[in-house]
Amino acid sequence: MSKNVIVIGSQWGDEGKGKVVDLLAERADVVVRFQGGANAGHTIMTGGRKFVLHLIPSGILHPGKICYIGNGVVLDPKCLIDELDALYNEGIETVGRLFISPAANLVLPYHKLMDQSDEKRREGDGIGTTLRGIGPAYRDKVERCGIRVADLFSPERLRARLALQPAIKAQYFSCENDERCDINKIFNNLMDMAPRLKPLVADISLRLAEHKKEGKSILFEGAQGVMLDVDLGTYPFTTSSNTSVGGALTGLGIGPKMIDEVVGVVKAYTTRVGAGPFPTELSDTVGMALRENGGEFGATTGRPRRTGWLDLVALRYACRTNGIDKLAINKLDVLDKFDKIKVGVAYELDGVQISDVPLDISDLCRVKPVYKEFEGWMVPTTGLTSYDRLPEKAKEYLKFIVEILGVKIGLISTGPGREATIMM
Ligand code: IMP
Repeated sequence: MSKNVIVIGSQWGDEGKGKVVDLLAERADVVVRFQGGANAGHTIMTGGRKFVLHLIPSGILHPGKICYIGNGVVLDPKCLIDELDALYNEGIETVGRLFISPAANLVLPYHKLMDQSDEKRREGDGIGTTLRGIGPAYRDKVERCGIRVADLFSPERLRARLALQPAIKAQYFSCENDERCDINKIFNNLMDMAPRLKPLVADISLRLAEHKKEGKSILFEGAQGVMLDVDLGTYPFTTSSNTSVGGALTGLGIGPKMIDEVVGVVKAYTTRVGAGPFPTELSDTVGMALRENGGEFGATTGRPRRTGWLDLVALRYACRTNGIDKLAINKLDVLDKFDKIKVGVAYELDGVQISDVPLDISDLCRVKPVYKEFEGWMVPTTGLTSYDRLPEKAKEYLKFIVEILGVKIGLISTGPGREATIMM
């Protein structure tokens, strides 16, 4: 791996970025989050313990690594403090190791109320958000009425900016009995949390520039996936941030040359949570078997994930739009018990075969996948650590992916633990 690596999800999130970041963090000095918020849930298994991190970069589990949360993240201060406390209780020291940008926008209780109320309003046409207030917080940021981390340390400014919210959000604040709209209470809670957060504040852009000069190695940890990117994903069934490489540049205040290598994380099949098109989705017993064998239930919401075969059309799109250099293929072992394995190689749209993702959502909702079928290997691969020991049929499957995408594989995961990994 080269020096500064960015790890992004290449499907609809939940690709297993947590494990990949955790592995690569060993060789990095600094690990950084640049977008999204507590909608993410990065699961890491280490030393027989399971950690689910929503905001704090997974690198925190490696003693001595420095972790940053950049300005592009929408930060729920309560969630951050809870996560810090949970790490402390597990004996993980975070003091002097985690820093947050003063320019990050906050997710406040009324954003969660708004998220819930927006989803209700959408009725049958909901996005299926995580209800963590992510969309409303990004909306405030773009509307320029958001509250930033820096505001926590100027109580008068904070009070004044909070006082504007009921008028701006009258439609949501009309349910006056909901304490999530209680501006005084929110102000007081933020004042209580501010001293805890103050020592964490740092100019992340400046620090990263210094680290580059010092020759330190930086690992950029993406959240969600390319197909959920607000610009490049299956809009409007997306999250509200740029989950792609571009999000790291604006979400941290760095130039493109800071990134040496782009790693796209992908499952050996596909999953999606929430609504929106999913061309290779399986609504049959095979889909159920993928969910059961893969433990496909959301780390943040516990929702069962939608499951389907690998979609190389969507994946090629993710590679192109992000300049992916290497793939990290997760959960190969989940396919061990399938006698037939299919891969989406093209779409059919109104009787015509196409090889690219249509950018009009109504077209994407209508496409039918064109599959290539592989024979399953039907032997356990769980825990394998060497490529040579993989069954030939699994190798054929992997070689086909490489051939179609024109992207090398950097890592294959054969189980949840750190050790169940084939490094290429
Ligand atoms: P939001 O980010 O909570 O607004 O949700 C928008 C869409 O992104 C929904 O379909 C969510 O299920 C999906 N989503 C958000 N975060 C994640 C994630 O970390 N993994 C997978 N899907 C996610």
